[in-house]
Amino acid sequence: MTWIKLASLALVVVLASAGISKNEDLECMFLGYPDLEYDGFDRTEVLTEKNFNRTVFAEDTKSVVFFNDVEEDDSELDQYECFLQLSAQIMTKRGYNFYTVNTTKEHRLRKQEEVEKGEDTIHVYKDGYKIEYNGVRDPETFVSWLMDIPDDPVTIINDEHDLEEFENMDDECVRIIGYFEPGSVALKEFEEAAEDFMGEIEFFAVVTSKWARKVGLKRVGEVQMRRPFEEDPLFAPTSADTEEEFEDWVEKNKEPVMQKLTLDNYFNLWRDPEEEERMILAFVDEETREGRAMKRLLDKIADENSEHAGTLEIILVDPDEFPLMVDVWEDMFGIDIEEGPQIGLIDISEKEGIWFDMSQVNLDDPKKHSDSNFEALQSWIDQILSGSISLDDDDDDEPEPPAPPPTPKGKKSRKEL
Ligand SMILES: *[C@@H]1O[C@H](CO)[C@@H](O)[C@H](O)[C@H]1NC(C)=O
Ligand SMILES: *[C@@H]1O[C@H](CO)[C@@H](O)[C@H](O)[C@H]1NC(C)=O
Repeated sequence: MTWIKLASLALVVVLASAGISKNEDLECMFLGYPDLEYDGFDRTEVLTEKNFNRTVFAEDTKSVVFFNDVEEDDSELDQYECFLQLSAQIMTKRGYNFYTVNTTKEHRLRKQEEVEKGEDTIHVYKDGYKIEYNGVRDPETFVSWLMDIPDDPVTIINDEHDLEEFENMDDECVRIIGYFEPGSVALKEFEEAAEDFMGEIEFFAVVTSKWARKVGLKRVGEVQMRRPFEEDPLFAPTSADTEEEFEDWVEKNKEPVMQKLTLDNYFNLWRDPEEEERMILAFVDEETREGRAMKRLLDKIADENSEHAGTLEIILVDPDEFPLMVDVWEDMFGIDIEEGPQIGLIDISEKEGIWFDMSQVNLDDPKKHSDSNFEALQSWIDQILSGSISLDDDDDDEPEPPAPPPTPKGKKSRKEL
């Protein structure tokens, strides 16, 4: 009896000191794992402009901050709340603290942390680095991403295992690799630059001639960028050796022509592009013969159009990797994704697209038709780049200017009378 009392008292004390309380009204569930339950404790705290800096930038802290612009009574909030609480139940034990910031109220804080108005997003602050999470908001994907955050912004390739890691990322994300003297100033500057791109771009370095040779670097100071689906690397200017010069160069070139949509980069790709960018969505199931043929065609398109990086953005989606989204996308764009590959110029926020007529390419015998397939798709891409195929969303609410009535030959038009 006394023991039970003491034990429950101890529990209350522990909870009080950790600042967590029972979250009575919130019903959350880990879906799919019968032995895993939400324990009902509230592990998030609200941050404001007043306490943000001293909480998040304090030494030896690891923070997850959810910036949201949502009304209190929005049902979306319950979903976010569950996502955070379930993730927190796993990750507070591993040293992470969970916070929310109401950006409807905290304008200055929103600007300070570079969050757009109306945007809901998650930042992780760790060892002085800020890393944005762009993945889908389900606890499993998020927790697994959080556990995988590397300790260092630059991975030094020193053995076969590191090399394998570097090579396995081919086509997955933008990678930067440099060859430096160990302990050099330039390596330090390279590391500083890498901090700013954590979670978005992977940085590697080699510090011996042996490993430099294996990754194809020739001279000390050489820095290359490898973008997915492009054969030739880009070289940083030989003069670049300061943090700022590295950053400028990466910033200018980091947009690949083609990227694959994944659970981890979802919200980084699934958003409206820059004004001058054209966004093309390609649904390609690589488990089908047609899909593989289409993928090879797109690889060639991406490689041949690398000069249009920053203007042309092709997002590759394997519907098999997003089975829950297939119906949503089919409804959104009025297309049949399961039938075969589809490619279209799209507008994310307007949820509309102009779809390429797939009968213009022959994917049944792609070897025989490789040149004509390439020409057909490239000519469609060229029309998009030149603006003769466009979604013109800005003009949607303005009526089309009426076509001038044909002037009968030989008669004067009214104006001239
Ligand atoms: C928090 O830190 C930023 C710099 O990171 C600074 O601009 C801002 O004024 C600080 N805010 C407060 C309330 O101290
Ligand atoms: C955020 O603040 C606004 C303005 O004060 C308020 O209307 C809204 O309900 C708040 N959202 C949450 C989730 O508390």
